[in-house]
Amino acid sequence: MKIIMLGAPGAGKGTQAKKIAEVCKIPHISTGDIFRANIKNGTELGAKAKTYMDKGLLVPDELVCDLVVDRIQQDDCKNGFILDGFPRTIPQAEALKAALTAIEEKMEYAIDIDVPDENIINRMAGRRACVGCGATYHVEFNPTKVEGVCDVCGDKLILRDDDKPETVKRRLDVYHEQTQPLIDFYKKEGILVTVDGTQSMDKVFEDILKVLGV
Ligand code: AP5
Ligand code: MG
Ligand code: ZN
Repeated sequence: MKIIMLGAPGAGKGTQAKKIAEVCKIPHISTGDIFRANIKNGTELGAKAKTYMDKGLLVPDELVCDLVVDRIQQDDCKNGFILDGFPRTIPQAEALKAALTAIEEKMEYAIDIDVPDENIINRMAGRRACVGCGATYHVEFNPTKVEGVCDVCGDKLILRDDDKPETVKRRLDVYHEQTQPLIDFYKKEGILVTVDGTQSMDKVFEDILKVLGV
């Protein structure tokens, strides 16, 4: 199964993608997670990406496309993969399509998790991310067993640098301008499905499984 997760920042792409990846036994590929891992490890790519991410802007296409195109050609992607946070611009979508066409493959589902802007700001302020393993929680909607401590690895939780309200506002503007056009792109490709992302996490997951027929 080859799946793209679409949706505004904070719509729940990461939350749902992790669960889908588990059920469908396919790798979860999050460009945001890849950049954050690079920042943590002090790589050159991480340093470049950070200057854009901290401002709420997109990392330039040329730093993203090759990375993903290489990743989806690795062995573990043979039975499919789930892309979270990529593509985010029309040129990225075109690059993905070209890479897959070259090997006679194509994406099968583009799942748009639809959440209005009003709901997003609150969600982001309550999100907490683990510095160790990247697991995501929410102080109200998905709390950890012990406050401030990751359930998975026991490391500490932080508010992501780009989750400050003013940066979230900028990310939403960037989303509407550069990423939302992908909804039409994938509608034309005939693979777009929309789910109501304002529902509970479990209900959103249930709706997605129905769409995927699993
Ligand atoms: P990225 O990490 O992809 O961030 P994003 O798209 O802004 O999305 P988020 O990860 O913030 O949200 P999400 O939809 O995954 O929501 P989550 O599941 O965590 O990218 C970060 C930056 O990297 C970008 O700004 C850009 O600079 C750069 N970048 C990455 N990819 C790029 C690309 N392809 N091109 C260029 N630049 C790129 O959920 C959010 C919160 O809500 C959580 O706390 C969660 O617990 C909670 N929640 C989830 N679902 C529900 C629900 N149903 N009800 C209540 N709460 C919920
Ligand atoms: Mg995410
Ligand atoms: Zn952790």
